[in-house]
Amino acid sequence: MKTDFCFPLTSPIMNACGVMDTTWEELVALASSRLGAVVMKTATIRPREGNPTPRYARFKYGSIQAMGLPNLGYKAYIKFSEELKKFGKPVIASVFGFNLDEYEFLVSEFQKSEVSAIEVNVSCPNAGEGIPAYNTKYLDEVLSRVTSIGDKPIGLKLPPYLTEKDVKEVSSIIKKYNVSYITLVNSYPTGLVIGEDEKPLIVPRNGFGGIGGESLKPIALANVAMFGKSMKDVYIAGVGGISSGKDVLDFFLAGADVVQLGTVLKENGLSAISEIEREFMDLLRGRSIEEIKGKALG
Ligand code: SIN
Repeated sequence: MKTDFCFPLTSPIMNACGVMDTTWEELVALASSRLGAVVMKTATIRPREGNPTPRYARFKYGSIQAMGLPNLGYKAYIKFSEELKKFGKPVIASVFGFNLDEYEFLVSEFQKSEVSAIEVNVSCPNAGEGIPAYNTKYLDEVLSRVTSIGDKPIGLKLPPYLTEKDVKEVSSIIKKYNVSYITLVNSYPTGLVIGEDEKPLIVPRNGFGGIGGESLKPIALANVAMFGKSMKDVYIAGVGGISSGKDVLDFFLAGADVVQLGTVLKENGLSAISEIEREFMDLLRGRSIEEIKGKALG
């Protein structure tokens, strides 16, 4: 099931950043699985405990989370990237900076590491004020800092955008820089789910959290299709509510080059991968991924 991406892949299915990818044990499990590449948890400069629990919950139509970037700090992930080499799979770093200098520092450190690409997370809904990528001036500044250091491909993890006009504006900024791929989309930034006890399901952010899983899928598909139309030369990793072969098919039909599994891995574990893969192969009916890419929209 080979596909085109900014580095060779034996499978177009990866994990989504932030799911089962924080500790060494989790990363070894991902690296030993059928996934084509391993994305490590978003790293910050210093280790973070993240927000108080419960900070993740499942509900009827998806998941809600306000994790708060719990991670072991970038030095741990640089070391893990060296040790994960023996599994023979591309490893992708993800970074979040609380300001421009931090973004630049983190990218320059990972440029010296063993990772195959660096995904710049400008869409975490649970860290600081606002979503970096919704401030287009700031997004432009982040890109100008991080795309001029080193040769490793730079990816950009974006939040969901609402309209084609927003997508055109953001695309015109991204096109100015050497961005190899975009990951679409991070969780819908602000949702609220109320439980049987008449209280929000999660504690941080007054109960508000990023929405993933089933509810996110139509929004993610639209973003894949809109960005695919406005940026032809940038690879797209599609993510949001993929839990079956049909979901994978839909993302390719919308124009994705690879897909990432999030909530389904958290809920069903690694055994979900082979089932999704098998269902997808059946639905491909002998066609290549290239043949179906973007075909839903003509
Ligand atoms: C988090 O750790 O808060 C989630 C990360 C993200 O959505 O980027």
